[in-house]
Amino acid sequence: MAELHPVCAPLAFLLGTWQGTGAGIYPTIEDFSYIEEASFAHVGKPFVAYGQKTRDADTGLPLHAEAGYLRPQGDGRVELVLVQPSGIVELLEGTVEGSTVQLASTAVLGTASAKPVTATERRIWLDGDVLRSSVAMAAVGRELQHHVVSEMYRLS
Ligand code: HEM
Repeated sequence: MAELHPVCAPLAFLLGTWQGTGAGIYPTIEDFSYIEEASFAHVGKPFVAYGQKTRDADTGLPLHAEAGYLRPQGDGRVELVLVQPSGIVELLEGTVEGSTVQLASTAVLGTASAKPVTATERRIWLDGDVLRSSVAMAAVGRELQHHVVSEMYRLS
């Protein structure tokens, strides 16, 4: 296995596979609960590959998924480039401080058929042995507000 690129060291606490549960809300939709699996991996280059997929907690059917790359800049700043099967692409910038990554979008683009999303904010933080993650979004004409939060435990 490749050695971790030194620039990725502040993100080492994320590396591995995580599984847990989450809950989502937005004023335009029904509340929902989900099961999430996320992975963070490296190949020795200065990025961390990230993937996540979710299932409905009641029916087990697939819900949201996303994949992308965390790009630490070596000075506490982090970039994230991310794609979703719903036709949305996010570019985010932020920081890693201790065991917390905080990011805000600099651009959100959608394909012609994607639902309109204009901004996102994300937080991923390790709380003891629980990896917590939250997303806020400005979508379908609404102001930036909370959408999902989850808590996951390390599988590997
Ligand atoms: C764990 C992550 C997420 C889960 C489990 C999740 C799940 C859901 C569910 C179940 C709905 C309602 C049904 C539907 O429209 O499909 C929904 C709506 C939506 N989600 Fe998410 N979502 C997640 C993250 C995101 C992210 C990161 C974005 C955008 C960057 C996003 C954008 C939207 C939009 C635009 C809607 C439609 C709202 C509407 O139609 O009024 N979601 N999401």
